[in-house]
Formats: sequence, C-alpha cells, structure tokens
Amino acid sequence: MGLPGTGKIWMNGTLVDWADARIHIASHVIHYGSGVFEGARCYSTPKGAACFRLGPHMRRLSDSARVYRMECRYGQAELEEAVLETIRANGFQACYIRPLLYRGYATLGVNPLPCPVDAAIMLWEWGAYLGAGALDSGVDVCVTSWTRTAPNTFPALAKSCANYANAALIKMEATVEGYAEGISLDTGGHLAEGSAANLFLVRDGVIYTPPVAASILPGITRDSVMTIARDLGYTVREEMLPREMAYIADEVFFTGTAVEITPIRTIDRIRVGDGTRGPVTAALQRAFFGIISGEIPDTRGWLTYVYPDSAGARAAAGARGGGA
Ligand SMILES: Cc1ncc(COP(=O)(O)O)c(C=O)c1O
Repeated sequence: MGLPGTGKIWMNGTLVDWADARIHIASHVIHYGSGVFEGARCYSTPKGAACFRLGPHMRRLSDSARVYRMECRYGQAELEEAVLETIRANGFQACYIRPLLYRGYATLGVNPLPCPVDAAIMLWEWGAYLGAGALDSGVDVCVTSWTRTAPNTFPALAKSCANYANAALIKMEATVEGYAEGISLDTGGHLAEGSAANLFLVRDGVIYTPPVAASILPGITRDSVMTIARDLGYTVREEMLPREMAYIADEVFFTGTAVEITPIRTIDRIRVGDGTRGPVTAALQRAFFGIISGEIPDTRGWLTYVYPDSAGARAAAGARGGGA
C-alpha cells in the first residue's frame, strides 16, 4: 500500500498538509501504543461519494476510547463531521478513512492519564487489501502459531493500537511462510479471526462465525454480512468453533473494511470446498458490493453522502480528474 504523500490531514480540528502532519517523538503513543483507531471506507456511488456505516465506526471509536479512559475533546458527531470535512477538503470520491485518537506529548511514565488525547483523521486511496484477484479467486491462508490476546489482557472489543502488535506477528508469520493471511485461534484453541478481518464458514448452507467471546474485534462488515445473510434467508450462527471446522467447511471467507468479503481457497494447504469462491460467498458479495456501490437501494441507511448534492460530487470529481 503506497501512501499518497499529498493532501490534507485533520489534526485536532485543523486541516494540515500531509507533509506537516507530525507529532513529537516523546508522544506517549509512540512508546506505549496508547491510541485507538478506526478503519472505514468511502465509496463512489451514482449519487456521489458515500461513507459506509460511518456512525457505527465512530461509535466503536468512542467505545474503544472509553475502555482506555480516553476523554476526547470531540464528540462522536463532531468526529463524523470532521471525517466528511476531510474527504471534501481532499476532493475524494472513494477512499480509506483512518481516524485516530492518541495520547500525545506530556510525560513518558507508563500512566497515560497525564497526556492529552489528540485526534487525527487521514485518508488515502486503497484498493484490494489482499491483492488483485483476491475477491474473485480467493486467498491461501494458514492457521497462525500466534494465539489471539487472552480475555482480560488486551481488550479485543477495543480497536487499540497495542492490539496490532499481536496482529502484526500473525501477519508477518503468514507472509514469510508464503500465505496471504493468518487465522488466529483464541486461548481455548477456538477459531478467532484474521490479523485484520473476521472469519466466516459455511457448511451445509448454514453460516457460522466466531462470537465476540472468542477474542475478536466485532467487525462492522461482520455485522453487515450477518444482516445481509439473514435477509437473504440464510441461518447465521455465532458459535465457538473448533479449528478443524475450517478445514471441513464448504466455504470460508474473511470480512472487513479492508478485505471486504474475501474468499479463502486453502487453509494450511488444505483445499476449502472445491478451492473456488462458493455460492454463498458469491451471493453475499453480490449483495454487499451492490449496496456499497449504490446499485442496490440502501434500505438501512448505511451510506452517508459526503457532498451535499450530486452537483457538488461532480464538481469534486472534476477537480480530481474524474475521481477514484
Ligand atoms: C482484528 C480485526 N478484526 C476484524 C476486523 C474487521 O472489522 P471491520 O469490518 O469493522 O473493518 C478488523 C478491521 O478493522 C480488525 O483489525
């Protein structure tokens, strides 16, 4: 993923140039991972740029901050508006959205409470996270040797920077072993999730996914996929699942803001189903991509339009030479 190096970044209420979006090396977050963040997406639709489920993403950011006793000077509504303002300032039609609350510069004791809670929002254009073709052909993954964080150690429901030390170990191991991703287990050996994605299995037409008690981040895409699946008439079960369920499933896929809905074709070199994207995965992709692209009506209010009207959206697209 290349970062653009240009454009505007929102920092504590001010839009600053990309190159000037700096913090001090003594900021608490750099030493102790004392930050919480979000990852959301804005999509190009026929009615203009639209953020997907911005409210739930920013609510999760507030929840994460609450767990870590971070009092942010900006409320959820202000941060949502700041996201929209930053997209408009950059003239994006489609982008990845990264809001971050972090402990800034004051002291470097382990206790973060004396440090200010600073806020930033950055955006960039980000395509298929697991590589070109992943959404159609699927990816090859392993079960990682790294266990997901134990309950009552690093809170899994909070999307904290520190949790991604565990995620990075999973991702690095998978990558150096030649896999696109790793599936982690919880401390009881049950299926948990990928390094930055939730996990779903399909067996005999029933859809299974690990519950929040399996040390997962409760994904917004996970919730969207469960909702869409139930609307399509599928039974969806949130259950503790043994590792071997993944090997004998008919279909397995990841969900997440970055991976969207990515089929898994092998796990530990064992073929999943017939090794191609299965019919349930395909049906869920059709519905999900239909909604985010604006081709299927957004009956649940999942899209927040960025520009006040489509004329504004067209103007911004023109300014950027046609948009993303
Ligand atoms: C550890 C982890 N699990 C799951 C997800 C998927 O969550 P979402 O669908 O909200 O992007 C993410 C992505 O943020 C993640 O980092």
